[in-house]
Amino acid sequence: MSGHSSARLYLWTVLALSLLVAPAFGGHRAQNQGGNQAKNQPWMDTSLSPDDRADMVLKEMTLDEKIGLVHGEGMPGWGKPRPNWYLGNGGAGFVLGVERLGIPMIQMSDAAYGVRSSAQNGRYSTALPSDLAAASSWDPEAACEYGALIGTELRAQGYNMTLGGGVNLTREPRNGRNFEYMGEDPILAGTMVGNRIKCEQAQHVIGDIKHYALNDQESGRNEVNVIIGERAMRETDLLAFQVGIGIGHPGAVMCSYNAVNGDFACENKHLLTDILKNEWNFPGFVLSDWGGTHSTVKASAAGLDNEEPEDIFFGEKLKQAVQAGQVPMSELDEHVRRILRSEFASGIVDYPVQKGVVNVEGGFATSRDIAEHSMVLLKNAGSVLPLDPSALHSIAIIGGHADSGMISGGGSAQVDPPGPPSQWQAHVWFPTSPLKAIAARAPGVAMYFDRGTDPESAAEVAKKADIAIVFAYQWTSEGMDVPTLSLPDHQDALIDAVAAANPKTIVVLETGAAVTMPWIDRVSGVLEAWYGGNRGADAVADILFGDVNPSAKLPITFPRSDADLPHPKLVTPPRGRHTRGEEATPTFSVTYDEGLKVGYKWYDAENKPVLFPFGFGLSYTTYSYSDFKLSPGSDSEVTVSFTVKNTGSRAGAEISEVYVALPASAGEPPKRLVGWSKTKLNPGESRALTLDIDPRFLSIYDEGTSGWKLVPGTYTFMVGGSSQSLPLSGSVAFDVPPPPPPPGR
Ligand code: BGC
Repeated sequence: MSGHSSARLYLWTVLALSLLVAPAFGGHRAQNQGGNQAKNQPWMDTSLSPDDRADMVLKEMTLDEKIGLVHGEGMPGWGKPRPNWYLGNGGAGFVLGVERLGIPMIQMSDAAYGVRSSAQNGRYSTALPSDLAAASSWDPEAACEYGALIGTELRAQGYNMTLGGGVNLTREPRNGRNFEYMGEDPILAGTMVGNRIKCEQAQHVIGDIKHYALNDQESGRNEVNVIIGERAMRETDLLAFQVGIGIGHPGAVMCSYNAVNGDFACENKHLLTDILKNEWNFPGFVLSDWGGTHSTVKASAAGLDNEEPEDIFFGEKLKQAVQAGQVPMSELDEHVRRILRSEFASGIVDYPVQKGVVNVEGGFATSRDIAEHSMVLLKNAGSVLPLDPSALHSIAIIGGHADSGMISGGGSAQVDPPGPPSQWQAHVWFPTSPLKAIAARAPGVAMYFDRGTDPESAAEVAKKADIAIVFAYQWTSEGMDVPTLSLPDHQDALIDAVAAANPKTIVVLETGAAVTMPWIDRVSGVLEAWYGGNRGADAVADILFGDVNPSAKLPITFPRSDADLPHPKLVTPPRGRHTRGEEATPTFSVTYDEGLKVGYKWYDAENKPVLFPFGFGLSYTTYSYSDFKLSPGSDSEVTVSFTVKNTGSRAGAEISEVYVALPASAGEPPKRLVGWSKTKLNPGESRALTLDIDPRFLSIYDEGTSGWKLVPGTYTFMVGGSSQSLPLSGSVAFDVPPPPPPPGR
């Protein structure tokens, strides 16, 4: 990576990858250009722009056809079956096409870490590691691989639109959906989700980014009013979307259930029109989260383009509103144009979906590879890891169903394991057995297994073995938050008992996001495996035995206790939820008064020590940093140069992180991540790296001028291997305010 900014190199790599994968996965282009069709349907000319093609189709459409495009046709299990239910593909929703004009149906499926409901449809999907796990690789190429695999499997199962692409920030660490998102930093999360979407969409599916915006907790998600300042939201949650949309160009944005500053997100003009469509120039369409539409005239005027999964507000009611002049035809046309544009831009018109067979073995390999690069080694006292089988007589494996599987995240993200369809919010364990994977690496070493339900019996087993490995889990899901960051099911007591019996205790965590670790000083090792996907156990074994040198780093902070969170107590709704109907109003508020201080920015600003900081992760080798140089360029561009060296005896990959402290007058948290680079290094090898820092990432949102600006003063850049280990630093002063950065991305 020497001599390039990570961002630019990644961009080119991703572009090259997209070009490579598109023909391989894209299927056959429809023969749409010849004969009568070309004459009658000039929009099938693929040399025209998606905008021109959309305009041409729109002119041909009747009012009923237009209305047909702006709402869903139902979801299995949601309300009464609708007349067209049989045309659905079994996914979360579908939109009728316009057959006479060659416009296909949009068949949507949830696809957070793999395609949902496959078993229900008699098919199979690869379960990848959770999205948060993928973010821990800090590797946009891995995000691209992740997206490409999901896009390919969507098409193989008859879908041409994904509902994946979650990027809500980990502002509330107890949010039950944090595993579906990409962590607490907007630039890292936005970059990762953008690359995922880009490569998913390159397979000719309409890409999606969600849940726009500030759906940062599940408790009362349908009725919570999020109160937050303009600058705070622009620089945090919205920035993740802005960056993700800028890189991935998704065809769709899903607006969220919650309200923001008084208006539900799906009828929030400021979010949908002022910011997303006008300021960021988003050309695609906005669809509501399922049941997240609450009005006809207001939602349409605010910029909602498509109601899902039914037509309570955007069916007959919208038609009547148009006929009565309450909704101008031009407004309806705008919704339709945006939907058509995304259909053309993504290629779903030119490359009609053909069902195929999922490459199961290929999926296993990708899932394992991503898992190996996403598990974070958090503690390794006395180099207890990697394990040397020749030096061991026995290993005790304890808890977490480790004899049979590894847990996954629930809700609409849930991927079915092989076998019968999984039920909503059932705890699903993928059949990837850590016990078997570990035993396979250590032939001749005795394996003891204890279920971990009784700490005393687990301690007995641990005492007999050279090493004890406890598998601890935390199941999380859409629709609920975890009440606390403590491990559930008395697992802290289990780990304490095992650690007291055997000082060589290693804890492997299978968690949705951060958990607290009251036992941290009493165990020798901790590996955060997240939700590891359907080859998670192989990846765990690869790391425990050193076949893979861990290289992932935390995309979230692990706090010491719930008391240290910005909101020590989760804010929950006063009464039950109501999702539909015009009468719906927010019933309670959560005030995000921590504002800009999301994740590490909170702990930095409040001087709160943490358990493990953002950006932290160990390796079996060590790295050093030197030769720091800052070169301010024209247009407030800054180039940061440094050398990173592998000072240990194993090959590895180091994520070098660049943070900046803005001038005090900017009123920002102490530092923000502005760049990083993941570099493979052999033992003793060093690499000179040069990262161009995007000036937009140095700016702040100015409420006075409603724009981004750079503040004059001294900027201190810091480089190192975690947000709390930054050995290199230097400053640069901008005396004159540099020109404002361009709007949007
Ligand atoms: C979730 C969305 C999901 C949709 C369809 C909603 O409950 O919030 O993320 O895409 O359902 O399943």
